[in-house]
Amino acid sequence: MLLSPITERRCLNQAIIKISRVKADIMKTVLLHANDCNCKNEIAKAAEILKNGGLVAVPTETVYGLAGSAFSSEAVKKIYEAKGRPSDNPLIVHIADIHELDIIASEISPIAKKCMEEFWPGPFTAVVPKSDNIPSAVSGGLDTVAVRMPDNDVTRQIIRLSGLPLAAPSANRSGSPSPSTAAHVIDDLSGRIDAVVVSGDCAVGVESTVVSFAVTPPRLLRPGGITAEQLKKIIPDLVIDSAVISEPEKGAKVASPGMKYKHYSPEADVVMAVGSKADFISFCKKNSNNYELALCFDEDLDGLAVPALSLGASYDHERQAELLFSHLREIDKRGVKKVIVHAPDKDGMGLAVYNRLIRAAGFKVIEL
Ligand code: TXA
Ligand code: MG
Repeated sequence: MLLSPITERRCLNQAIIKISRVKADIMKTVLLHANDCNCKNEIAKAAEILKNGGLVAVPTETVYGLAGSAFSSEAVKKIYEAKGRPSDNPLIVHIADIHELDIIASEISPIAKKCMEEFWPGPFTAVVPKSDNIPSAVSGGLDTVAVRMPDNDVTRQIIRLSGLPLAAPSANRSGSPSPSTAAHVIDDLSGRIDAVVVSGDCAVGVESTVVSFAVTPPRLLRPGGITAEQLKKIIPDLVIDSAVISEPEKGAKVASPGMKYKHYSPEADVVMAVGSKADFISFCKKNSNNYELALCFDEDLDGLAVPALSLGASYDHERQAELLFSHLREIDKRGVKKVIVHAPDKDGMGLAVYNRLIRAAGFKVIEL
């Protein structure tokens, strides 16, 4: 059908109006480049946005966090919305100096204090009784609060300058792998938050270790950058929650709400195989038609019957943690549908890598 020039022009105008309406719904996300501490302007801009109730993704040594004022229910509500996160999954409050603890927590046990002194700043989160200054939106309605002091100078300066403790979950869309680079954050949240502080890649690569001191003896809820072995030197009777390596029963009350959700999942169907290098290689040979990709270790690669992505040497759990989330995202980029993962052993940081992989696999495990 031929349109008159006037009708054509009108159609074009209507299309332009439609596009600008859609654009108005999408927030402009500002990128603040802050690779070292000599970036006072960027730090000041980030602090200003946070003081005005906005959301800023910030770097930490574990993964990037999506920060908002921990004193503001409104800012916290926006965090849940931007991530698409269930509101019963509580957030970690980030502080820059130990004296801020008194505002956030109502009680700190001597053993919790000892762990904070040992592991802060660093990838360690303590769950402690909450003070009334922290809205229940932060704690998902629980009477406890998770607190951590990140080992990142830029982010600690932002906290100090804003004068606010920052509620900050990992800066990914809920369910997808956590962001260990600024590019991951931009992929997931651009257009949904006010700003991203673009800094280097996260050195640890998996999230902090979460320990509850609201129970006796203290309980490891999520393994991370501080290992169970390091913790046991201070807490000899530390209990490792069963949800760390196995699937919580349907409807069961879990100590850490985050543990009950499917997590870290690529779009692909992921299965985890537990066994030796020889068993893994022979399994891949027999099942090469069933799997398009293997996520495994350097030692598995020689002549493997399935195309592979390596997480590094099987003994190097620190390197595995560093690569883990980028590799899980790479699986989606390649568009593969079926992936077999070789389980790491559970020593040291291996427990954190195992914990993320078994969730990425939705607890589908094959014992070789
Ligand atoms: O390294 C990290 O911890 C990163 C960076 C940004 O600091 N943050 C992070 O936050 O991983 P998120 O929200 O993705 O994970 C927090 C975990 C969840 O599993 C949550 O259920 C648990 O901590 N958590 C938070 N508050 C809790 C509480 N009061 N009791 C039990 N578990 C809690
Ligand atoms: Mg998370």
